[in-house]
Amino acid sequence: MKAFQFNEKESQITDEKVFWNRRDFIQKAGIFVGSGLISANVLGQSENEEGTKQDKLIKQKKAQLLTNQISGKDLKSELTSEYAVTHHNNFYEFSLDKKEPSELAKNFNPDLSWQVKIGGEVEKSGIYTLEDILKRVSQEERIYRLRCVEAWSMVVPWYGFQLGHLIAALKPNSNARYVEFKTLHDSKQFPGQKRGTFGSFSLPWPYTEGLTIAEAMNPLTFMATGVYGKSLPGQNGAPLRLVVPWKYGFKSIKSIVAINFTKEQPVSTWNQRLPQEYGFYANVNPDVDHPRWSQASERRITNESFWGVKKIKTLMFNGYGDLVGNLYKGLDLKKNY
Ligand code: MTE
Repeated sequence: MKAFQFNEKESQITDEKVFWNRRDFIQKAGIFVGSGLISANVLGQSENEEGTKQDKLIKQKKAQLLTNQISGKDLKSELTSEYAVTHHNNFYEFSLDKKEPSELAKNFNPDLSWQVKIGGEVEKSGIYTLEDILKRVSQEERIYRLRCVEAWSMVVPWYGFQLGHLIAALKPNSNARYVEFKTLHDSKQFPGQKRGTFGSFSLPWPYTEGLTIAEAMNPLTFMATGVYGKSLPGQNGAPLRLVVPWKYGFKSIKSIVAINFTKEQPVSTWNQRLPQEYGFYANVNPDVDHPRWSQASERRITNESFWGVKKIKTLMFNGYGDLVGNLYKGLDLKKNY
């Protein structure tokens, strides 16, 4: 498959050291960064075809850090390094080992022709390519905390679009109470999906996740197509993954090929596999421990020393309670973990 990527030269020079300088430059130039692709001619290089096509999808407007407008939080100084974000991954379709997905995903580079099947209780059901989807939304950058249920965390500069904007364009009907997401099921591309790869441990494939429609419509809920100013690499869930920053990381499903609007609560993969340990809601909550470990604190990963990192207190709803707390009024969060 053809890479949905910057041209080589471009991707090599974009690391976090120049990330903020570049953003400032783009802001001054009044140019919007789209899907991690910066118009090649802005950088004084010749346009390649992919860049040009991509640029057409992008509205010319100033890059904005909407994180600050939407969440009121400035996390710039806490950013996890690009290397750590892309080399410490949970992606069981590739491996159970956090260091392996970056290596195993090298040939997994989906492009704009990636298909997503939209179905269920929705007016505009059908099969959409990523290109079709990106025509219906505008993309922006957001910096979010990511808190894994395993008690490590990162701060990640995502690029993508607000899920609610896509949902509004798809027009769910009044029966739609939940949104279900599914990852690609293809053991040729995902070795972890081959029977027996993980010995006695197995997950029911395809990886499936779900949100209530209110959670999916919350302005914080995001679909990422990029990270650190580049298209998403395979190990981070290329070309399209969910990001729900107030929930444990396993809700943020990667490499999405199906979005269904349902009446009933979807059965999510980890809830199906270990229901006593992983609930449907999975809201970050320092007061409700995992049966096998405390959730009161977390290891914040800042750079490539994945283990030698500082321990910090975990925040209720991962620090986003002011924006999402009202979704759970009256709900017993100990029972609905
Ligand atoms: N999505 C799929 N399809 N498969 C996975 O194994 N792991 C989840 C989530 N999404 C996972 C997934 C978990 S446990 C976490 S913490 C995050 O992805 C990690 O995202 P990252 O590797 O980009 O940090």
